[in-house]
Amino acid sequence: MNIRFMAGAFATASMLAFSVPAFADTQLKVFVSSQHQPAVWRKVFDKYETANPGVKVAIETGGNTSEAQAQYLNTVMSAKDTNLDILMLDVIRPAQYAAAGWTSAFTGKDMSVYLPAYNEANTVDGKVVALPAFADAMFLYYRKDLLDKYGIAAPKTWEELAAATKKIAEGEKNPNLQGLSFQGKAIEGAVCTFLLPYWSQGKSLVKNGKLTFDHDAAVKSLKLWKGFVDEGVAKKNIAEVATDDTRKEFQAGSAVFAVNWSYAWTHFQNAESAVAGKVGVARLPALGGGEQASCLGGWEFGVSAYSTHQDESKKLVEYLSSEDVSVFMAVNGSLLPTYAGAYSNPDVLKAAPWFADALQVVETAKSRPVTPRYNEVSEVIRTTVNAVLAGVSTPEDGATQIEARLKRILR
Ligand code: GLC
Repeated sequence: MNIRFMAGAFATASMLAFSVPAFADTQLKVFVSSQHQPAVWRKVFDKYETANPGVKVAIETGGNTSEAQAQYLNTVMSAKDTNLDILMLDVIRPAQYAAAGWTSAFTGKDMSVYLPAYNEANTVDGKVVALPAFADAMFLYYRKDLLDKYGIAAPKTWEELAAATKKIAEGEKNPNLQGLSFQGKAIEGAVCTFLLPYWSQGKSLVKNGKLTFDHDAAVKSLKLWKGFVDEGVAKKNIAEVATDDTRKEFQAGSAVFAVNWSYAWTHFQNAESAVAGKVGVARLPALGGGEQASCLGGWEFGVSAYSTHQDESKKLVEYLSSEDVSVFMAVNGSLLPTYAGAYSNPDVLKAAPWFADALQVVETAKSRPVTPRYNEVSEVIRTTVNAVLAGVSTPEDGATQIEARLKRILR
């Protein structure tokens, strides 16, 4: 071997070593819902990076509400963008994503380890299209200190709740204290706003893919919420209130009751909260004579069909969906576990004692309709709820509109 060749070979080898490392890091980008503790997920990603040298995980967030995030992701996925590897998806979306071919399926995954609702939501046409990130349901948060002061038990009906807010308002004489904060803005959460009292009358919206709309029950649901505004139980501009607004209002001490999801708990207990140690959590009330019902929520991790790191992404998602991570997110971010056993984990119960009763709520919570056309279903319901609360439409007209439009979508 001559000297020139050797020198050349050495130069090439060292260039390879320094400018193009033989084992370049795999960069994975995960879309995380901004409302669901990205800072806590970051800690999980840090642990993963330490255990898996050569893998780096970046977080991307965007949009404050589920439908705003969906709009962003729809744009990214329609453009077949390879930038995002993993997508955190609201429980209502896997069916749509699978139909669009936007997620790649997992094979050989035992889904029976998860709560059945999440096994179902992530299995589309026999294929596992995403794995659960965390469970969720809607709850009634209440000011335990105020209810105790006035000798009131957590309400089981909406009528009891209205009476409780009136009694407390008369006693407290605080114009800044609202009775109830709930979601009236035209966001995804307003679909659940409509369905809670509707379901509590024992009615379903869709059965076996067919619309089972009950007009009277829909009118009663919309009347209940509009009545709360008219009677001063809820504030006049409730039509502008989104999920995280409710969370902030209750956290600032300006609402007796709040309808919200589990993530709110950890915020209520933090150092800046005006209500730490004063919060009770109960099942959501029913309309008089009905059964208490909650809306099933939750988020999943799907691997983008356009990711250029399929195997690495799936490996990370398996980890993110593990019981250890589920417990970690429950303890540090009050996100409900997708594993039944985690609800009796002592660390979880120390961080959120009410999770002991939450398993039953998640297990009996009702699902929003599962359909690839869910975006349209959602839009019809949430814009109508908003219009009724803003006084633009009546409960009667609102119910008629929802029925007519859903009939066209779910034909
Ligand atoms: C929560 C739920 C999700 C729901 C959303 C509505 O994030 O987990 O399923 O769609 O709230 O605002």
